[in-house]
Amino acid sequence: MVGGSVPVFDEIILSTSLMDQVLSFQDVSGALVCQAGCVLERLSQFVEERGFVMPLDLGAKGSCHIGGNVATHAGGLRFLRYGSLRGTVLGLEVVLADGTVLNCLTSLRKDNTGYDLKQLFIGSEGTLGVITAVSLLCPPKPQAVNVAFLGCPGFAEVLQTFRTCREMLGEILSAFEFMDAECMQLVGRHLHLACPVRESPFYVLVETSGSSAGHDAEKLTAFLEHTLGSGLLTDGTVATDERRIKMLWALRERITEALSRDGYVYKYDLSLPLERLYDLVSAVRARLGPGARHVVGYGHLGDGNLHLNVTADAFSTAVLDTLEPFVYEWTAGQRGSVSAEHGLGFKKKDMLGYSKPPEAQLLMRQLKVLLDPKGILNPYKVLPAHA
Ligand code: MLT
Ligand code: ZN
Repeated sequence: MVGGSVPVFDEIILSTSLMDQVLSFQDVSGALVCQAGCVLERLSQFVEERGFVMPLDLGAKGSCHIGGNVATHAGGLRFLRYGSLRGTVLGLEVVLADGTVLNCLTSLRKDNTGYDLKQLFIGSEGTLGVITAVSLLCPPKPQAVNVAFLGCPGFAEVLQTFRTCREMLGEILSAFEFMDAECMQLVGRHLHLACPVRESPFYVLVETSGSSAGHDAEKLTAFLEHTLGSGLLTDGTVATDERRIKMLWALRERITEALSRDGYVYKYDLSLPLERLYDLVSAVRARLGPGARHVVGYGHLGDGNLHLNVTADAFSTAVLDTLEPFVYEWTAGQRGSVSAEHGLGFKKKDMLGYSKPPEAQLLMRQLKVLLDPKGILNPYKVLPAHA
């Protein structure tokens, strides 16, 4: 997403793909300890066979490694329910720049002994150490999962639907994702996925996960009756079986893939106040006019995370200059984040100042010098070249 793992000049590439062993699993607490090269989807299967789920899920689950997920502090589709990896990771083993093995691979829920060093490496994108093993807490596998795919007439209705969802579904709400009409057109055109509801300006995917099918169905039915009856929705469909649930999720999860087939993609991953979240998409659409093929907005609405993507025939500095710094300044003006979940990597490192004050940037630089004095760990990434 931001070139965090892409070598740019003279780097040596480390692969952890042979470090793919589960080291232990506690079937009472759900604490999983595994090596960094385990593929997320394989871990999901492993824990699901034992009645648990991974607290993290994302479109790239079939190829991404858990070590990379932690190093980049991946957000993904279960964030709303299980929170950030900063909460679910219990411990890490990290190799430091001088070869020291830092063994903080605890499986304890609570450990308040001094600085929480693992947090330094979560989201450091490999710039402070190499994560070699991860201990994380897996929640119990929900007994009942439902997915509702809904059409909304406008963004105000998307927000109101989210409010209603939280009020009426409460503890069983596990995901609230949104996509606009242009996203739906693109997954239709490039991936041949059919829209399951009446064409609408916006679509919402609501997932519930609970422990009692009857109770969850009752809540979901009451929610749908209310929202359909009050004009918040244009249409809706519900899936309870695994095949249809996967089909509905694919519409949302595969937007990135559809975009990449549409042309050159300018990608932005922003945290914004919910009320203003879609205003940026409309503003960018108006600024670019015919200069872009598509300007789309989608993302993890429940987390206040917008993915603003622009496709064009090819890369052009004219389009880039229309987009930047406008998008970053607009976001900073809302006190948002210029990278909600994708990190900074190589592409966004110079944007750090839009979301962090100079004092925070200085401290980050000091930590980098302390832990990696020779600058050998994922060089040219995360920190701005000049500060
Ligand atoms: C997603 O949520 O699908 C990805 O994080 C978004 C992207 O490709 O921008
Ligand atoms: Zn995302």
